[in-house]
Amino acid sequence: MPAKIICGKSIAAAVRKDCQQRVERMKRLTGRVPGLAVIMVGSDPASAVYVRNKIKACQDVGIRSERLLYPATVSQSDILDTIKAYGEDPEVDGILVQLPLPKSFDLELVLGAVNAEKDVDGFHLYNVGGLVIGNTVFPPCTPYGVMRLLEHEGIEIAGRNAVVVGASNIVGKPMALMLMQHEATVSVCHAKTRNLAEFTRMADILVVAPGAPILQPPWSRRAPWSTSASIAWPTAQLVGDCDFEGVRAHASYLTPVPGGVGPMTVTMLLVNTISSAERTLAAQNATIENDGLAAFVE
Ligand code: GUN
Repeated sequence: MPAKIICGKSIAAAVRKDCQQRVERMKRLTGRVPGLAVIMVGSDPASAVYVRNKIKACQDVGIRSERLLYPATVSQSDILDTIKAYGEDPEVDGILVQLPLPKSFDLELVLGAVNAEKDVDGFHLYNVGGLVIGNTVFPPCTPYGVMRLLEHEGIEIAGRNAVVVGASNIVGKPMALMLMQHEATVSVCHAKTRNLAEFTRMADILVVAPGAPILQPPWSRRAPWSTSASIAWPTAQLVGDCDFEGVRAHASYLTPVPGGVGPMTVTMLLVNTISSAERTLAAQNATIENDGLAAFVE
């Protein structure tokens, strides 16, 4: 039987509805709403689209957002000053620096300047460390979204072979850590991996995030798939990285492009921003209780 296509768009819509209710509740109880600051440097067209989507998603659920667009010629110290100011701004609960930054920037320095308590991308070393030990409050948005899809479909993770294609700091590595945290046996494949197909054939759960389209997909129709669950996450905006029909014939579940993981990524940013605001308020205000994913009590 061909794979069930997981509709990330409708699952994301349900999570966003929940986000909207959390924001409304916060407003009713405290008079304030969560705030997100998005900083973008340069004019990368894909980044501009992502940033627009993030701002629009914030508006849709009632999160206050600020978008700061800088030319690629801006100095790094100006960006660091901006990040620091947002770090101290009580109206801002989440800070996001859109990547990639121009090559002249010191990425680690910039990401390290984000207040770790407002690091809704989960890219600060403190939060990366939390992820490594299985205890982060800001799971990076794309892998977090994939985990939510797996959970939504009731796909068992413990004991399964999970193969992640791509070892980026944004998706591949955190994805592997999250799957490991859920007791999968994880392989991480990358550009230097030999015989990629040997790994992908073993996968019960396959996450494809190579950063660049793979020209010769290893998951051809002839591959003896024995998968019971596969999620393919394509990075390329609209076309996807994998042989969709080839995988579909062998997998049990599959995410489409568009409408699969993409909508979940933005949605998990909203979740992280709201959770951040709730945690801050919980620390300030005894009427709000934090249960780890931050639930309100009236
Ligand atoms: N560029 C591509 N994906 C992301 C992301 O998840 N966060 C940020 N900040 N930049 C990105």
